[in-house]
Amino acid sequence: LDNGLMRTPPMGWLAWERFRCDIDCDNDPKNCISENLFRDMADRLAEDGWKELGYVYVNIDDCWSSMDRDNNGRLQPDPKRFPGGIANLARYLHDRGLKLGIYGDLGTHTCGGYPGTTLDKIQTDAQTFADWGVDMLKLDGCYSNASYQEQGYPLMTKALNATGRPIGYSCSWPAYQGGLPPKVNYTLLGEICNLWRNYGDIQDSWDSVLNIIDWFFDNQDVLQPAAGPGRWNDPDMLIIGDFGLSLDQSRTQMALWAVMAAPLFMSNDLRTLDSSARAILQNRGAIAINQDPMGIQGRRLLKEKNGIEVFWRPLSGSASALVFFSRRDDMPFRYQTSLKQLNYTTGVYEIYDVFIEKPMPTLKDTTEFVVSVNPSGVVMWYVKEWICEMFQAIV
Ligand code: GLA
Repeated sequence: LDNGLMRTPPMGWLAWERFRCDIDCDNDPKNCISENLFRDMADRLAEDGWKELGYVYVNIDDCWSSMDRDNNGRLQPDPKRFPGGIANLARYLHDRGLKLGIYGDLGTHTCGGYPGTTLDKIQTDAQTFADWGVDMLKLDGCYSNASYQEQGYPLMTKALNATGRPIGYSCSWPAYQGGLPPKVNYTLLGEICNLWRNYGDIQDSWDSVLNIIDWFFDNQDVLQPAAGPGRWNDPDMLIIGDFGLSLDQSRTQMALWAVMAAPLFMSNDLRTLDSSARAILQNRGAIAINQDPMGIQGRRLLKEKNGIEVFWRPLSGSASALVFFSRRDDMPFRYQTSLKQLNYTTGVYEIYDVFIEKPMPTLKDTTEFVVSVNPSGVVMWYVKEWICEMFQAIV
């Protein structure tokens, strides 16, 4: 969507995967969906070095609203859990240099059973969100149908635009159409949404992450060209720092979400995150690759019989990212190849290992090298064509 927003994939924090629809503030006050939870996460983003790296969105998901609209037909937050109201929460975030995202559903109800946005309520809800100072909307698609969605998703683009407030727009539409053409029209989506969920919900497990990785790269011929500045495929939240992933699996999720030019919305508890999860999520190389200004989504280059897969993403400045991933479950695998075999042209290349955070020896395209890839882990490289200084001085 050409609204000037999200020229690189949006980054921040989203409540759903980690905190779901926990509305039991009496018994679980620290974890229930309430203004306190979002304030806590905002404090962490602002104070623990996240904001400076680009993690600026704090996004509310389902179960924030009251079961009834107000007397004017507007959505309203649950009065017990959001006593200060959403506008106040937005101000709290804006004061800290952060942005607020909210959740709605194009249909009679949200997936959690809260009031939905029916077609006749699209304008009202867009205006309400704008009045509150909301910066992003995720519009889900439960309790509706195909023709409803076909009308409603573009109508919301218009309604948000008409408010005059810049509001990033995340559409769940393709996820409800099976994610693939001919049902999904990716050209249209790129025109009306800043990002879109293509596929099922991520859960807190490696199985779920691997299933998402496979689906996105198996369908890369369709999905990869759809992405670009202002329009992104969304493979769903980062679950790094939760309970389901090992250290290597966490690096794999970070590396492949970077290669996919995916939105980086963490769904974890930033108050209790351990240092290894933090190091992965705050890895500058991985973030720089994810945020590359050209915004070209990467691809899987190779799927080897030995269980190694190689991924590649072109980056600005004659650079690229390479990821070696192992599906094996035995021991670190020594994978031998050369840049030439990975389609690199004749030349010398500087290599930076993203997770070791160190430069490696330069490589000629023809030089054979070995990378040792841990089970369900990755090796991620930032690769840059090396131009000899003497040569640069001459030309
Ligand atoms: C759907 C969405 C999830 C989440 C839930 C909330 O399942 O795909 O991301 O928003 O609804 O109920």
